Amino acid sequence: MAERIVLNTDIRKGKIDRNIYGHFAEHLGRCIYEGIWVGEDSPIPNTKGIRNDVVEALKEMKIPVLRWPGGCFADEYHWKDGIGPSEDRKRMINTHWGGAVENNHFGTHEFMLLCAMLECEPYINGNVGSGTVQEMSEWVEYLTFNGVSPMAELRQKNGQEDAWSVKYFGVGNENWGCGGNMRPEFYADLYRQYQTYVRNYGDNKIHRIACGANADDYNWTEVLMREATRFMDSLTLHYYTLPTSDWNHKGAATGFGTDEYFTTLKKALFMDELVTRHIAIMDKYDPEKRVGLIVDEWGTWYDVEPGTNPGFLYQQNTIRDALVAGLTLNIFHKHSDRVRMANIAQTVNVLQAVILTEGEKMLLTPTYHVFNMYKVHQDAELLELTVDSPVYSYEGVEIPEVSASASVNAEGIIHVSLCNLNHASSAVLPLALRGLAGQASVSGTTLAGASIDAHNSFEQPEAVTPQAFSAFKLEGDTLTVELPPMSVTVLAITPQ
Ligand code: AHR
Repeated sequence: MAERIVLNTDIRKGKIDRNIYGHFAEHLGRCIYEGIWVGEDSPIPNTKGIRNDVVEALKEMKIPVLRWPGGCFADEYHWKDGIGPSEDRKRMINTHWGGAVENNHFGTHEFMLLCAMLECEPYINGNVGSGTVQEMSEWVEYLTFNGVSPMAELRQKNGQEDAWSVKYFGVGNENWGCGGNMRPEFYADLYRQYQTYVRNYGDNKIHRIACGANADDYNWTEVLMREATRFMDSLTLHYYTLPTSDWNHKGAATGFGTDEYFTTLKKALFMDELVTRHIAIMDKYDPEKRVGLIVDEWGTWYDVEPGTNPGFLYQQNTIRDALVAGLTLNIFHKHSDRVRMANIAQTVNVLQAVILTEGEKMLLTPTYHVFNMYKVHQDAELLELTVDSPVYSYEGVEIPEVSASASVNAEGIIHVSLCNLNHASSAVLPLALRGLAGQASVSGTTLAGASIDAHNSFEQPEAVTPQAFSAFKLEGDTLTVELPPMSVTVLAITPQ
């Protein structure tokens, strides 16, 4: 049998930043309210209003960084509405997302508490579209200044004596669209202006993030890099995977056919080309790779579940989503010398969520399980790996059947993540383990679906869960694996 995967266990290619495993939580639908925040008086077990079950699950999968408060909401959010006694906070309509009442009970203090409970880095997105330079500057002062100042005093009055530490700060979101419909030249100038007043106070060093392109808008990246490279630490990219090309009929989250299953995976694979081409532009202006590329919105976007508010973006999550997650994370690993963070949209109850809730019930989606299985790659060293994949073809269109990536952790354990995209056949693959002196022991975990839309429901929350994987044979330095159809597998190879 021809070698299909070659893993050079002794060729290290740099660290896979754990922030690639980041998440995004917006004031949208039931993500923050119900999904994360239930309030102190709720019968749902909570700590100062934050759901305990959700925190526990996110901690288990080692969430490294959380982006908030949007999204489109960020460029309409006025942070002073969300501080002070909760009963005095403004009630308003969330005009962008479903016309829901926003009572501002979840604000800056609650978000910082959430991040402390999750032990993750906060990534705060400021308002450029409808906010002022002063408003953004004062938010940073409120968050991070320890000393005598109006904002530090206001924070202390609201119960937080010491400044928080905030590393990641975004200057606007989708300013080419919901964040102000700007041209890149205009935004580049505004970015330069706003970021000037995003100050570093004391030891708090802010990583300034400029709003980047929508999908394949390479001109946006070109202009931002040309005009503002020296003022930014990272530039973003947004790309969503839709089964169809029609935003009015995106396709259903469950009950779809093989054609939509196949197209979704094909479109998810496009992330590789997108990232490669945006990086090529960045390389031109920043060959030392100082500026990071942050894919701070990615994931699947389907038609909402029937009967739910179209502005709430609530969708089910199947084995197809697990494959999108697995192959996308493998792509990010490959580009980890430039991709330093990514934030799947969105954490709970919105788009490609890792968690769904219904009242006091909570379930973990197939996407959650992929993040949990893949957490072994966080901050590990990427290993050189080449895949000569079998072809997966559907109605004359071809894509690679297998996506793979490997890393070695501080203890010397090698992890290989493998996705078999094929809905009908197993993939039997020899994996050549080069550079491994002596014996090794192997173990594995796999997540597979019994049908193309296999998913977890509140009636059957464990229909799709990881199982121990033993369909492999190690002979000499060749490890032959048999990956089930529609599966995500992670192997642990421990040199003896
Ligand atoms: O994630 C949902 C929305 O998608 C975000 O608010 C926006 O930034 C993007 O268009």
